[in-house]
Amino acid sequence: MTRLINVSNRVPLGKTAAPGPALADSGSMTRLINVSNRVPLGKTAAPGGLAVGVLAAMRHRGGIWFGWNGETCTQEPGEPEITIRDSLTYATIPLQQGLYERYYSGFANGTLWPLFHYFLAGFRYEDQEYAAYEQANALFAARLSPLLAPGDVIWVHDYHLIPLGEKLRALGVRQPIGFFLHVPFPHFEVLRALPTFAELLRALLAYDVVGFQTETDRKSFLDAVRILWGAQAVSEEGVVSTGGRSVRTGVYPIGVDVDEIAKSAVKAAGSGPVQRMMQSLVGRRLIVGVDRLDYSKGLLERFHAYRQFLEGYPEQIGQVTFLQIAPLGRQKVHAYSQIRDSLEQSSGRTNGRFADADWTPIRYLNRNFPHATLMGFLRSAQVCLVTALRDGMNLVAKEFIAAQDPEDPGVLVLSNRAGAACELTEELLVNPYDTKGIARAIQRALTMPLAERRARHASSLAILRQNDIHRWHTRFVDDLLAARARSSSRRSAESTELSAFRG
Ligand code: G6P
Repeated sequence: MTRLINVSNRVPLGKTAAPGPALADSGSMTRLINVSNRVPLGKTAAPGGLAVGVLAAMRHRGGIWFGWNGETCTQEPGEPEITIRDSLTYATIPLQQGLYERYYSGFANGTLWPLFHYFLAGFRYEDQEYAAYEQANALFAARLSPLLAPGDVIWVHDYHLIPLGEKLRALGVRQPIGFFLHVPFPHFEVLRALPTFAELLRALLAYDVVGFQTETDRKSFLDAVRILWGAQAVSEEGVVSTGGRSVRTGVYPIGVDVDEIAKSAVKAAGSGPVQRMMQSLVGRRLIVGVDRLDYSKGLLERFHAYRQFLEGYPEQIGQVTFLQIAPLGRQKVHAYSQIRDSLEQSSGRTNGRFADADWTPIRYLNRNFPHATLMGFLRSAQVCLVTALRDGMNLVAKEFIAAQDPEDPGVLVLSNRAGAACELTEELLVNPYDTKGIARAIQRALTMPLAERRARHASSLAILRQNDIHRWHTRFVDDLLAARARSSSRRSAESTELSAFRG
């Protein structure tokens, strides 16, 4: 019996251990074990790309999702709690307050997040926080390993858990383990600002498959490997071989469930919350942005660009409304509370200058909405702004395309520094630092002829269908299973050689 185990920072729990459908794997049954830091059972989790992707894999394949339950505790956590929700099985643990702060707010989000998003100005390094990161990963490994069965395959998600594979190996786990990085992987010149960069690279070599969002990310990783271990460590296909281990690397751009989003957007567009919002616009056109409140999302530059748009195209004053939804997170990290203050000031300045008694130019909301309602907002908008300064993929860009009415689609203004720009080349690509360029793109989107909008939308939609969320998890898991098949055939070849030698 093989289970696929996904690992992330926070994990959802279920009531009973329903393993769900098993993977077809050359005659035996395989379950997937996902591991991520955060599991979407917690009260505070804002759903992002990771949660959407892992949930799709879980719904399709079953298995277990292991991670942090979003709570803190005073003593070292014991056995994971098993929860079954909507037929999915979650195994979760709390984290001790001090460890959580040093590991999650400290190394994961104070060091790795800015580093991996190329924000060296906001980057800091503390030995103690790195030690907590290692400790949290060792704890995850210790609590996860007793749940594993010999046939399982394990899928670890994101930057919080880079050392997890190595810690599991140290506990004797021999099952295939894959790692997917949801965020960008930085160029070596940026990576080496981290005093412990070599340890992180070495930790990635404990996996069987390491996956990235884009070819640029994979190339940055392979370049770093070549610098550390020499060009001969990397094959032409991007397989890394050092110290007797082989690690396959791949590019697996995360996608969306196109039909599911289209269905939910149509339904939500007719629902109370979306209808009320539309009525309140009294016929004005809608520009929308949906982002976690994060300095990497380029919100300040976006607000500035919108102000320049109103200045540059005064005929649009009073004709459009910009709805920016930005739920809060990671508020213990200083950079996040700082950007929050700056955004309040910036939106206030624009509204103070341009608003009228019956019109507010920016509606800036720090609250979250159910995913379906968000899809309804996206469908109702003429323009969507995704102007991240750096982003692994950005699923809002893909959700916006999938949510549109193909007969009268809106237009996406997309940062050329988001992973999604590698695929959505037909959209209006902008440099997110070029605020005047964004202002021009907003005007172009609002005035684009219907035929052009339809043609661009059709070509983006075809790309989304080709590379959807099911293809993402299927390709990754298939590569993980292939890695296992290769290692068992290597083991049996070695034992044949050994018996021949003995014989
Ligand atoms: C976003 C990012 C993911 C990251 C997640 C963590 O979704 O795209 O790469 O894993 O945030 O969110 P959290 O709320 O746990 O900090």
